[in-house]
Amino acid sequence: MGAQVRAISFIEERARALMERYAVREIRIPILERIELFMRSTGATSDIVEKQMYTVERRGEGADEGRTVLRPEGTPGVVRAYIEAGLDRSDPEQRFFYCGPMLRYERPQKGRYREFYQFGVEVFGRADAACDAELLIMIDDLRRELGLQLKMELNSLGCADCRPAFRQAVLDYGRAHFSELCEDCHARLERNPLRLLDCKLDARIAEAAPASLDYLCEACRKHFDTVRDLLGRSRVEFTVNPRIVRGLDYYMRTTFEVSSTALGAQNAVLAGGRYDGLIAELGGAPVPGIGFAIGLDRMALALLESSRKFDAAPQVAIIALGQAATSRALELAHRMREEHKLAVEIFSPERGLKALLRRADRIGARYAVIIGDNELARGVAQVRELAQSSQREVKLDELPSALASALAAG
Ligand code: HAM
Repeated sequence: MGAQVRAISFIEERARALMERYAVREIRIPILERIELFMRSTGATSDIVEKQMYTVERRGEGADEGRTVLRPEGTPGVVRAYIEAGLDRSDPEQRFFYCGPMLRYERPQKGRYREFYQFGVEVFGRADAACDAELLIMIDDLRRELGLQLKMELNSLGCADCRPAFRQAVLDYGRAHFSELCEDCHARLERNPLRLLDCKLDARIAEAAPASLDYLCEACRKHFDTVRDLLGRSRVEFTVNPRIVRGLDYYMRTTFEVSSTALGAQNAVLAGGRYDGLIAELGGAPVPGIGFAIGLDRMALALLESSRKFDAAPQVAIIALGQAATSRALELAHRMREEHKLAVEIFSPERGLKALLRRADRIGARYAVIIGDNELARGVAQVRELAQSSQREVKLDELPSALASALAAG
């Protein structure tokens, strides 16, 4: 509502403009998807698939055809659509963005919701480190456009060749410290040992756990070094954090998270990474991919915390007392909006002058324009500058331009 929605729209507008400059095309993906899609991509042992997906019940004929869920994230749906359109074979190099609601069953708190908005970007057909760097530069551009203090953290998770040894090392480490792990880590250690690394409860244990960077094969190391080097040359600020393992199964090589220092526990405002095996896993050609998603709700909270104003105060509040005055007010407001691009609100004539003036002040309007029968008969309006409580009379015909110049003068 209110400022939060305006902040979300502001981020979305800026992000859309950025997409034009990076030649990324929009894709619209459905909210309903088959459950198998997420089991095979996000991961059957991920928290999202295990405990957070909403399944949709349908009545009537064919209701048992297979389970449908409300999408908890956008990446798998974009990959599915890309494969279904045959682009993985006919024209694999593609860049898409999407924006819309995602649904996860979470314990709600500030910055963590069951329905939230993501703005995501997916790039297909590029395996080179320059592509990772370009995406991270894009994120850096957004960070600057929004004027936010954000921390960018990178890691590399290795590939199918080097990850098994790393996974085994974390598993061995977890087994050795089993009695010190939290309940969640106990339950998932054997199935998904890497989650131990980003466990918030076991931060001390995670701190001392093996790091993926020590297990990278030659090709993965070179890839990661090149990404870092390219970012350095572009003056993108980042830190390497070996704890960025991500809770979704499809990632490999470069992974990243961007967080806001202005937020509390739920401070990750954007996250993503490379997923070179995913397209083939979902039945497509062996095409590489990489992407990220902005959590719009959280990014908006960060903007609001940064003291940026997103309230929708009208510049002018018109108080028209009586029917004839209301009709004139409509015409004047239209001129102010069309000719001078002013933000104008006409107040309901039902309440008394005093109450309406109080409201104009409370919602932050700069000027209140009062038109009563007396003013109408004389062709004038009373214009009150609310912060100063000063009032003057202005001719109705001159009102739109007089207000526009007063506002422009500051
Ligand atoms: P994710 O880390 O699950 O990644 O979500 C990305 C962002 O969405 C998070 O950093 C956070 O800002 C926001 N978010 C996630 N859950 C919630 C929630 N319950 N309430 C509010 N905001 C939330 C993905 O979804 C991947 N699909 C990103 C990606 C795209 N990777 C490659 N391409």
